[in-house]
Amino acid sequence: MTLDEYVDNAERLERSLADRLAGIDASTRIDAVKGQLREWRAELDQLQKAITTVPPEGRREAGMALNRVRKRFDDAMQEREAAAPGRGDGAHVDLTMPSRQSWRGGRHPVTLVIREIGEIFRELGFTVALGPEAETEWYNFGALNFPAEHPAMDAHDTLYLGPGTLLRTHTSPVQVRTMQRWAPPIRILAPGNVYRRDFFDPSHAPMFSQIEGLSIDEGVSFVDLKATLTNFARRFFGAARTRFRPSYFPFTEPSAEMDAQCGVCGGSGCPTCKGTGWIEILGSGMVHPAVLEAAGIDSERYTGWAFGMGPARIALSRYSIPDIRLLYDADVRFLEQIAR
Ligand code: PHE
Repeated sequence: MTLDEYVDNAERLERSLADRLAGIDASTRIDAVKGQLREWRAELDQLQKAITTVPPEGRREAGMALNRVRKRFDDAMQEREAAAPGRGDGAHVDLTMPSRQSWRGGRHPVTLVIREIGEIFRELGFTVALGPEAETEWYNFGALNFPAEHPAMDAHDTLYLGPGTLLRTHTSPVQVRTMQRWAPPIRILAPGNVYRRDFFDPSHAPMFSQIEGLSIDEGVSFVDLKATLTNFARRFFGAARTRFRPSYFPFTEPSAEMDAQCGVCGGSGCPTCKGTGWIEILGSGMVHPAVLEAAGIDSERYTGWAFGMGPARIALSRYSIPDIRLLYDADVRFLEQIAR
């Protein structure tokens, strides 16, 4: 082979390499690329052997032409290798990268309080009852012995949905619905959301949760109310003592607010109890005979007691949360400090 023929062959091989590479997709793995070029490489090997047929004075130049082709091939393979995805040797995995934080999720502080309260009353034989958040005026007020002109019914306090319908302002309507549906003995706990025309501020929200309790049977007295609620306060708050202050609700008579001695300071005064030694926990009372009758229960035969408390307020003192709005923000940085 003359030197010119040899150089021509080398250049033809170089062009055919470019043509073949153009036909192979960039995402093809490098060993598959090499596999597809096997024929071409056989030709390269042949050209290398053929160098002995070139007259000796032309061999140096022939060798340079051969090396150009080989370098083209090597460069092309290197390029392909760098660009191809998914190399199995792990070279593209950055082991110094921080791992993703895992967040398992957890229960909201208010949910934790509701569950814990529910657990204590469950042991005392209470079952859970639920009622609608969109209520009628009758269940929310009328059946609960509110006089027709009671200020709570004012549109300033209550969110009305339409004539005679509203968003319930407390969970007490569930008392009436339960008594209509079931015969005594009744022992229920009714957690749920309630609505009032309040602005958000550190201690108020227009929607918050309440837990209602109701116990109806023959011969139930105020002693049962005090004993049961004091037992609850001891278990939930670690309170050594409770105190009952006279109060007023249209649907209970007599009525009482219950305070628990602060379980954090033992009554000497601390930030949790705002220095008073006591934490206000709930409103309660003996179910008014007019409520029993409105719900179709014989008030001569049956008596009962009821209470209502706010799990959000309880969560604030239990977890030392300074602002009730934090419970509504759904900010994981806050929630994960308490969530379980
Ligand atoms: N419903 C009352 C309130 O929202 C609480 C309460 C319930 C009081 C049951 C007595 C009995 O303030």
